[in-house]
Amino acid sequence: MRGDTVAHLFRIDPRVLGDAAAYERCLSLLSPPERHRHDRMVIEERRRELAATYALVRLALAEVTRTPAEAWTVRRDNLGRPLVEGPVADVHVSVTHTPGLVACLVAPCAVGLDAEQVSPRVPYMRIAEQVFSPVELASLRALEDEPQRTDRFFLLWSVKEALAKARGDALSAPLQRITVTLDDDGRVSLALPEDCAPACARWELRWHRPTPEHVLATCLCTAADAEDAPRDTAIVEHVGLPA
Ligand SMILES: CC(C)(COP(=O)(O)OP(=O)(O)OC[C@H]1O[C@@H](n2cnc3c(N)ncnc32)[C@H](O)[C@@H]1OP(=O)(O)O)[C@@H](O)C(=O)NCCC(=O)NCCS
Repeated sequence: MRGDTVAHLFRIDPRVLGDAAAYERCLSLLSPPERHRHDRMVIEERRRELAATYALVRLALAEVTRTPAEAWTVRRDNLGRPLVEGPVADVHVSVTHTPGLVACLVAPCAVGLDAEQVSPRVPYMRIAEQVFSPVELASLRALEDEPQRTDRFFLLWSVKEALAKARGDALSAPLQRITVTLDDDGRVSLALPEDCAPACARWELRWHRPTPEHVLATCLCTAADAEDAPRDTAIVEHVGLPA
């Protein structure tokens, strides 16, 4: 996939697996460890979500590379990240699942993806105080409208998770020292501390609102072209279970 400067974002509502044939098709694509994880999940909704997630990765890879879904070997690395072993080289994926939404990002560079269901029931200010930077906290507190503030919390959270997943250090990323600013056009500006240089030429972060109840963030770790200011990588969106 090297040289391809396009990323692909696939998303589905896992409730499409309410259709028995679609569910069977997805189950048939799971590796033995994935099937084991699926079978051990007690809550039916979560079980379906897992089947949809693991199947979507292979169906997305198939769609992007025109290689059969059954041919792909995808395993977890020691941090729990999906690692694509082939048959095509240099393909990176990141996945996310939350009630009502499963998504997968495929690109020729390291990627991070996160989606969240916006829920007013989460005690979010307490969480924000632990993981947000002072600037982010101030921007959140400045919003007087409660639904707006809840929405902003989940957007910031999602962006920081996507960045952590792309960095590969989700559990130890210094998220409190990284400030993200959401621009109106869906782009995200980043303020990184000096000792926190990116592992690539630049992070391309974007926020999305795929459904009225979900937020989603993408992070691409891209290389800059010579001295020219790099252009944004195009993200092609695919909605629904690929054939
Ligand atoms: C590991 C973590 C990134 C998972 O995120 P999540 O929102 O709980 O769950 P998502 O559905 O979005 O993503 C889960 C998938 O991410 C992948 N994943 C797991 N660990 C990962 C890691 N270290 N890096 C990248 N991807 C990872 C897996 O494919 C996983 O799916 P599976 O376990 O069902 O196979 C998250 O739990 C975490 O630990 N974050 C720490 C960073 C933090 O403090 N964030 C706060 C935001 S401000």
